[in-house]
Amino acid sequence: MTAPLLIDIRQVTKSYHSGNVETQVLFGIDLAVPRGDFVAVMGQSGSGKSTLMNIFGCLDQASGGSYCLDGVDTLTLSRAELATIRNRTIGFVFQSFNLIKRMSVAENVALPLIYAGVSRSKAHAKALLELERVGLKDYAKRTPNQLSGGQQQRVAIARALVGDPPLILADEPTGNLDTQTSIDIMRSFQQLNEQRGITILLVTHEPDIAAYAKRLMRLKDGRVLYDGPAAEGLRQLAASHEAITV
Ligand SMILES: Nc1ncnc2c1ncn2[C@@H]1O[C@H](COP(=O)(O)OP(=O)(O)OP(=O)(O)O)[C@@H](O)[C@H]1O
Ligand SMILES: [Mg+2]
Repeated sequence: MTAPLLIDIRQVTKSYHSGNVETQVLFGIDLAVPRGDFVAVMGQSGSGKSTLMNIFGCLDQASGGSYCLDGVDTLTLSRAELATIRNRTIGFVFQSFNLIKRMSVAENVALPLIYAGVSRSKAHAKALLELERVGLKDYAKRTPNQLSGGQQQRVAIARALVGDPPLILADEPTGNLDTQTSIDIMRSFQQLNEQRGITILLVTHEPDIAAYAKRLMRLKDGRVLYDGPAAEGLRQLAASHEAITV
């Protein structure tokens, strides 16, 4: 039996309502992501990248279409069931790290396991293992504000991985980092993908960042403009920029 697609969305639409006004943001998105894929999502501001990531992450629901996450049809699930599959399947990494300032680095990383009902000692041991994997074991007792931006983002990656999810969703994870630190973080994602088989979906505005992915999806005005190998997609993107400036 082949493993189910990790993400399988068909004809996903999304509309926001405020008062009597309905604004459609996504217009029939299809995406099939097998285990082990590494997808960069690009598109202009407002093209629907975060909206789509929120749907992938079961933080928001599509208005239409279907979404199967690891073989489970999410539209049939209750809120509690959605939370369970989300905790089991997905680790989140955000642009602003979202670490809790008054907790130590190790406590931050252990937190998802504590929420999942794992004992403190087991959660702490797993947190230290994940911190070691991102090269930050010696920083376990510090608080996040005693770390650089890149180190904080690596702590957030360790936290995302502490429950051993097969999938990482990252919305502009290098958006607050300088170029060299961004490269370090992208190398970490690449290693996770190649060595641990973690599937990664990552939103970025930077072609240099997207170049670390295997596959590129470009969105325009809530529609898929390109879905294919990253190298070819980035070549097309560069060519379209040249066409505009000529
Ligand atoms: N909660 C909401 N209510 C109403 N409209 C929204 C809401 N969230 C997003 N939108 C609209 O949906 C569109 C897509 O937003 P989204 O945040 O997905 O864009 P994005 O591609 O992530 O942009 P950026 O690159 O700036 O992060 C935008 O026009 C935005 O104004
Ligand atoms: Mg966004």
